[in-house]
Amino acid sequence: MQNYSFSGKFIDKLKSARKIVFFTGAGISAESGIPTFRGTNGIWNKMKPEELASFSAFIKNPKLVWDWYQYRRDIVHKTQPNPGHFAIAELENYFNQVTVVTQNVDNLHRRAGSKTVYELHGNIEKNYCIDCRKRYDFINFQDSPSSPKCECGGLIRPDIVWFGEMLPDDQYSASEKTAADCDILFSIGTSAVVFPAAYIPLIAKNNRKYVVEINLEHTDLSYKADEFISGKSGDVLPQLLQLVKELKNQNVQN
Ligand code: OAD
Repeated sequence: MQNYSFSGKFIDKLKSARKIVFFTGAGISAESGIPTFRGTNGIWNKMKPEELASFSAFIKNPKLVWDWYQYRRDIVHKTQPNPGHFAIAELENYFNQVTVVTQNVDNLHRRAGSKTVYELHGNIEKNYCIDCRKRYDFINFQDSPSSPKCECGGLIRPDIVWFGEMLPDDQYSASEKTAADCDILFSIGTSAVVFPAAYIPLIAKNNRKYVVEINLEHTDLSYKADEFISGKSGDVLPQLLQLVKELKNQNVQN
C-alpha cells in the first residue's frame, strides 16, 4: 500500500479543526464490492437510469424496478463496511463534531458506527407506501412474487431519491448548514456531478472552509479543492486516522 504524505498546511488545519464533514459517494463503498455509477464498470454504463430509477418507470413496471432494488439490496447485504468507513467512524473520537453527508444508499456508514449521517439520496433498507406513506423499513420482501403492496393496497417503493425527485428537505438543509459551519470538508469517492448534492462541498468552499478531495481521479471539484489526495479511500482514510492520532498524542505531551 502507498504511504500518503499530507501537506504542512493541511496538517496545521487538522491540528486546529473541531468540526469535520465527510461528503461521500459511491467510491467509498467500491472497496466493499458495491459498484459505482459512472466510469467503465459503472452501473449507469450498463443500465438506463430512467428505466429503473424514476417514479414513472416504477408505475409502468413496479416488479422490474422492485427486482432491481432487491438485487442491489442483496449485494449490500453481502458486503461489509471497509477500512474507509471504519476510519471515518473512529475519527469521531478525535473531533468535537464529525458529520457524514452521503449520497450512498447502502447504509454502510451507519454499519461502521458513524453516528451523525445525513442521507441525501435515501436508504436502500427503507421503504414506504406511495398512497398512505406507511413505512416498511428494514423488512425483507425477498420472497414476494410481485412488487410488494401495503395493507391499504398501495404500492410500496424504496425510500430512494429517483431521477426528477426532490432530495429529503431535512437531510439537505442540515447538510448545507453543517458544510457552511465546518472547519474541514472531505469530499470522498464522488464524481461530484449530481446536483443538488454536489453543492455541499461548494457551500463549504464558498464559506472559506478547507476542502480536501480524496479520489482515484480528478473531478469537476478538484480545481476548487484546497487539497487533492489521489488514492483509494480505504487506504488514505486509515492513514489520515493514524495521523490524527499522532497529532492528538503530541498535543497531550506538549
Ligand atoms: P460516481 O459513480 O459518479 O463516482 C464515483 C467516484 O468514486 C468516481 O469519481 C471514482 O473515481 C471514485 N472512486 C472509485 N473508487 C474509489 C476508491 N476506492 N476510492 C476513492 N475514490 C474512488 O458516484 P457518485 O458520485 O456517488 O444517485 O454518484 C452520485 C449519484 O449518482 C449517486 O448517489 C446516484 C447516481 O445516480 C441516485 O441514485 C439518486
